[in-house]
Amino acid sequence: MSHHNNLKSNTRSIASLLLVMVLIPMLSVQIFAATEAEEIAKAAKIIGPLKYDNNCSSCHALEAEAWKQTTHFATFKSRGRTPQAKAILEKMGQRSMKSAGACRQCHYTSKLKGTRLKSAWGISCESCHSPASDWFDVHNKQGGDPTAKAMEMGTGKDQPAESKQKRIAAAQKMGMIHSAMIYDIASNCFSCHTVPNEEMVNKGGHHAGSDFDLVAWSQGEIRHNFLDTAATAAPKNRKSSPNQLRRLYVIGAMVDLETTLKNITIVTAKGGVFHKAMVARANKIRDKVQAILDAQPIEELAAAISDVPKTIDESTAIDAALPEKLKAASLAFLKKHDGSTLTAIDALLPAEKDYKGTAHQQ
Ligand code: HEC
Ligand code: HEC
Ligand code: HEC
Ligand code: HEC
Repeated sequence: MSHHNNLKSNTRSIASLLLVMVLIPMLSVQIFAATEAEEIAKAAKIIGPLKYDNNCSSCHALEAEAWKQTTHFATFKSRGRTPQAKAILEKMGQRSMKSAGACRQCHYTSKLKGTRLKSAWGISCESCHSPASDWFDVHNKQGGDPTAKAMEMGTGKDQPAESKQKRIAAAQKMGMIHSAMIYDIASNCFSCHTVPNEEMVNKGGHHAGSDFDLVAWSQGEIRHNFLDTAATAAPKNRKSSPNQLRRLYVIGAMVDLETTLKNITIVTAKGGVFHKAMVARANKIRDKVQAILDAQPIEELAAAISDVPKTIDESTAIDAALPEKLKAASLAFLKKHDGSTLTAIDALLPAEKDYKGTAHQQ
């Protein structure tokens, strides 16, 4: 490599380091729209779900098959052509969903083509597990040692707990969001699904958020729990355990409330469609959390929830510290509870028939 190239690549790596430093606080909670530079830094770390060398599906074929049955996958080609999309784009003064940064960030996964962003897939593995180039080479190696031999899919469950823990911890340190990180997973879902983009809702007429329950929405078409049986002749898409479902339910409600209140703090047009929708959502979700606490007192959540105004209307100012307090409560809850003592909330959980879409089976 020539001197000149070295210099250039050093400058480039310093520039990307700076970008990464800016991005770190945004990776798990990507609530507010990213700038193009931030999108580029993220796209540079995308491996992609399909097609290229080292992509997720080259090892995770079962998960990729399940993902291909989802709305997240399927709307990549079709959504931009619908009359609803065209109407929103026109009001926003934009030409296409793939070229408009705001649409692109929520609806697609982009990679870099040279120095330019290219939307390449729908909402994909790395939208939920985080961009992978830093972590993917340790997440599948025993003990998290990048020089170790790659593991066979489905053998992780047979390894000593310590080796598995080291591997997952190493990947987490490099930015991976794995299945035990329920708070981060939920933050990701709600950062898109509450649609925290006031202008797009008020001016563009975009939906002001999904009617989203984390259990119902993650256990239908989204579910892809194949690891337990991946190494057998008959892999199955395992149902999440009752303990995991309880934790998902509580954290789903808590993060919904946190995100919705945060959205209220960014309102600029009081009484606008976005503001009204977030106020209605906040009251509804506050009641949902309260119903959980009524069924089963949960010490870690009680204090933070008692700080949430009993009724929220368009004149209610939300203290900017409140969402942070709710986050701390959620994390304390997860640390304390493996779900096994929360049987009293089972009656609140959505029934299987209400799951969103159908889980893919092999
Ligand atoms: C903050 C995330 C976010 C952004 C930004 C965003 N969308 Fe969406 N969009 C969503 C979600 C979530 C849904 C699914 C809503 C639901 O639950 O039905 C959706 C659904 C849609 C739909 C389907 C609506 C229907 O009636 O079925 C269209 C069309 C759409 N978006 C267009 C756009 C366009 C155009 C842009 C850019 C101007 C955009 N979106 C930006 C998150 C977003
Ligand atoms: C070279 C093969 C390989 C590639 C490529 C790969 N993985 Fe993995 N992945 C593995 C193996 C092996 C495991 C551990 C399997 C086990 O526990 O039995 C794993 C485990 C995982 C887990 C489970 C972690 C947990 O919570 O226990 C997730 C999530 C994951 N991979 C996501 C991805 C994503 C997303 C991509 C693409 C960006 C990807 N992987 C690419 C081989 C790979
Ligand atoms: C990067 C943004 C983003 C993230 C993260 C995200 N979603 Fe979505 N999701 C969307 C968008 C956008 C749509 C609507 C796509 C369309 O219809 O064009 C959608 C659609 C869905 C649908 C189909 C809804 C229907 O009407 O049938 C389900 C189910 C879903 N998401 C569940 C989840 C879950 C569960 C998570 C978190 C584990 C999650 N999503 C994370 C953006 C996201
Ligand atoms: C909408 C968000 C979302 C997308 C997209 C997504 N995942 Fe996941 N993934 C999750 C969630 C949530 C869990 C934990 C589910 C649970 O415990 O019930 C999970 C769990 C996993 C696991 C562990 C499963 C097990 O058996 O324990 C693997 C491996 C994995 N994902 C890989 C992938 C790969 C590969 C892709 C893309 C082909 C992908 N994921 C796409 C959200 C997502």
